[in-house]
Amino acid sequence: MTKKAIILAGGAGSRLFPITKIVCKQLLPVYDKPMICYPLATLMLGGLRDLLIISTPKDLPMLRDFLGDGSQLGIKIQYAEQAKPKGIAEAFLIGAKFIGDSGACLILGDNIFYGKLDFFREALAIKSGACIFGYQVRDPQRYGVVEFDKSGKAISLEEKPKKPKSHFAVPGLYVYDQKVVDLCKTLRPSARGELEITDLNLLYLKKNELHVKLLSRGMAWLDTGTQTSLLEAGNYIATIEHRQGLKVACLEEVALRMKFITQSNLAKIIEQLPNGDYRDYLRMVCDEGPTAGPEPVG
Ligand code: DAU
Repeated sequence: MTKKAIILAGGAGSRLFPITKIVCKQLLPVYDKPMICYPLATLMLGGLRDLLIISTPKDLPMLRDFLGDGSQLGIKIQYAEQAKPKGIAEAFLIGAKFIGDSGACLILGDNIFYGKLDFFREALAIKSGACIFGYQVRDPQRYGVVEFDKSGKAISLEEKPKKPKSHFAVPGLYVYDQKVVDLCKTLRPSARGELEITDLNLLYLKKNELHVKLLSRGMAWLDTGTQTSLLEAGNYIATIEHRQGLKVACLEEVALRMKFITQSNLAKIIEQLPNGDYRDYLRMVCDEGPTAGPEPVG
């Protein structure tokens, strides 16, 4: 089944105030590039090329300025407004027309994945139902939490429980079949007035149509929710990039390696770039060609 992809990049950014007073959270730098590059690279590496970015009326123009219609990356990006942050699951109501009768994948614009993305590609290949992930964290009460029985089957899901039943948080990456829009229409706002993504996942769980894959310890799922975690995420990316001399989530490189664009397309992009480290890096990538070196991750 074809899958459309949504990046939800709205919200008030209140926890990061005052740095989010002018620039939205998803455009803040994570080391050497805006945060949204990371989730966008994840979707592209999953082979997804038909995308919708949802954000606030205030922030959408800046995101559009940054990414345009995606054609330079060989992908298609459309944009839609979320007037108020009424919940993550509202993304599927806002994106209903865009999704049509396809399946849909959602990634939160502040979630960073670094590692081998096979788990994501396998989830995208699932024919019916939904697929979410579990990732062991020290502080599960800050997230959606999934509990498993002894056989490894998911048996409960709770949003930010005071007493978590496991250490497995649910990252902000979700894959659904074509039932997702109709199921979202049946959701009612929670006590905090939001259409909860956890409630949507519970509907799939009740139908016995929820797959939950555990991410391995070798995978990094980074948080950017607080000043400290944002800094830590930036330091993590810097460490990897310095060690390898390769960039994480460099969108033009990902587009080339996924064969969404050709070497000559990339050469034209490079001509437009200002002198500096990013241009030099892309020059190297372009000269080496789409299959040089290790496969990009994250
Ligand atoms: O990061 C994973 C977690 O994301 C999951 O484990 C939780 O189940 C899920 O509810 C969510 O928790 P958060 O506390 O991170 O949700 P938050 O309200 O901070 O929203 C996450 C991002 O989505 C944030 O960057 C803002 C954006 N957002 C959020 C809402 C509620 C929107 O664009 N619109 C919204 O209406």
